[in-house]
Amino acid sequence: MILMDQLIVEHQDYVEKLQTLAEVIQGLRVNGRGNYFMETLEGLLPVFTTDLDRHAGREEDFLFPRIVERVNDSLVPVMLTEHEAIRQASRDFEKGYRLWRQGDDAAFEGWVNAAAALRGSFVTHMQKENLILFPLARRILTPDEQARLTTWNDG
Ligand SMILES: [Fe+2]
Ligand SMILES: [Fe+2]
Repeated sequence: MILMDQLIVEHQDYVEKLQTLAEVIQGLRVNGRGNYFMETLEGLLPVFTTDLDRHAGREEDFLFPRIVERVNDSLVPVMLTEHEAIRQASRDFEKGYRLWRQGDDAAFEGWVNAAAALRGSFVTHMQKENLILFPLARRILTPDEQARLTTWNDG
């Protein structure tokens, strides 16, 4: 599967997992620290921290440079700025979540707000990539270049 198709599959998975995250937060508010919610959250944490960082990193390392080479005025600078905002929300989410997990009940609203900020910025970001940036890349890169995106690097 070429990189852009793979990224779109991952976007769809993130949309579903963001929905699960919102439902778990709602469940915690209503029911408190139930086992189901705690286990689900623990499973979602790497998805929205380590995995998300790698997803953005693959876009930054393999795809964005190829677009910048060919097009002067693209969404790439905006995407990079959004990656930073998304990574910041991700770090705030993880930090607050870990405090709360250790028993600091006052940390709850902090990580919930960070999770909401992550959801808000990440969903529109993925839409821009799916609907604007990836179609642009498909237009300006040959099929062979698209196939090589996963192995290409800046060196
Ligand atoms: Fe991105
Ligand atoms: Fe993405």
